[in-house]
Amino acid sequence: MEQAAKVEEIKGKALGEIAGCADEAALIRVHNAYLAKKSELSALMGAMKSVPPTERASFGKAINDCRKAIEAAYSEKEKAIKAAVLARKLEAETIDISLPPRERKIGHVNPYYQIIDEMTDIFVGMGFEVKEGRDVETDHYNFELLNVPKDHPARDMQDTFYITDSLLLRTQTSAAQAHAMVEKADKGPIKMICPGKCYRRDDDDVTHSHQFGQIEGLVVDKGVSLADLKGTLELFVKKMFGEKRQIRLRSSYFPFTEPSVEVDVSCAHCGGKGCDMCKGTGWIEILGAGEVHPNVLRMCGYDPEVYSGFAFGVGVERIAILRYGIDDIRRFYQNDERFLKDYLEK
Ligand code: PHE
Repeated sequence: MEQAAKVEEIKGKALGEIAGCADEAALIRVHNAYLAKKSELSALMGAMKSVPPTERASFGKAINDCRKAIEAAYSEKEKAIKAAVLARKLEAETIDISLPPRERKIGHVNPYYQIIDEMTDIFVGMGFEVKEGRDVETDHYNFELLNVPKDHPARDMQDTFYITDSLLLRTQTSAAQAHAMVEKADKGPIKMICPGKCYRRDDDDVTHSHQFGQIEGLVVDKGVSLADLKGTLELFVKKMFGEKRQIRLRSSYFPFTEPSVEVDVSCAHCGGKGCDMCKGTGWIEILGAGEVHPNVLRMCGYDPEVYSGFAFGVGVERIAILRYGIDDIRRFYQNDERFLKDYLEK
């Protein structure tokens, strides 16, 4: 019965080693050592012939039981090791949910474009078409077609950035008026606005910037009068600043309009009584406008005996400053996040 004792011994050793395994690799090594083809247990199985026939059945069973016991201990231990590994991993990867999250910065429309969108919406609501202009213009469109020939003193009003003798950075969106009329194939009615940037050699300060936005408006049709201009701008101002705002037209001069006017809006701050905002006058200037000059109509291919029109040019930042109480035009271009954020919350 020496072999039966041997089986018991193998089993005891195997179970002991399995119990002592610290990780999966060690466990696999023990498993292979005891259950592989060349193991002691297999050798005993091969020695079956030397066992007396009467004892063979019980000996075979003893070996099988031993094998099963080792397998069972192995899978038990395997489960325990895997559970321990997982527990260690969870412990190591613990997330501290009490930490405050990182602030996410969400981008938004720049106030400059936001105000353009608002103004554009109002004019589109009145049936204006939106045209795109160009920042780099020819002297021809920026000046000549607008009744400002080369030696005209009005050129001094707008200190121009010239690129070449005939190319320049647009000083006014009025260049878009000329484009609209010249490019209108059937020379029929026009009702358009053109938002865009303009450039002048100004010294930057609180109210001046060498770069600023304008929205040009142009209406050309038969029988268009200054009353139409006034009605259009009144509606715009009321939609932009509120029902209570009024406008007033003051006589002015632009080479491309006749008559020309400057348009003021009643001061929202003091309601017209006079304050710092309106320099005591009760009114704040917001734009230049007028009836399209017959020379301009003619140069752009329209017969001034048949057609008339009005045009206006409104400063984008000016409107934003009044609407949102922004104190310095330069803020639009400095990209200071605090300003941009501040503006959003208003
Ligand atoms: N272009 C003029 C300016 O920049 C404004 C204007 C536009 C005046 C259209 C009359 C008509 O000052």
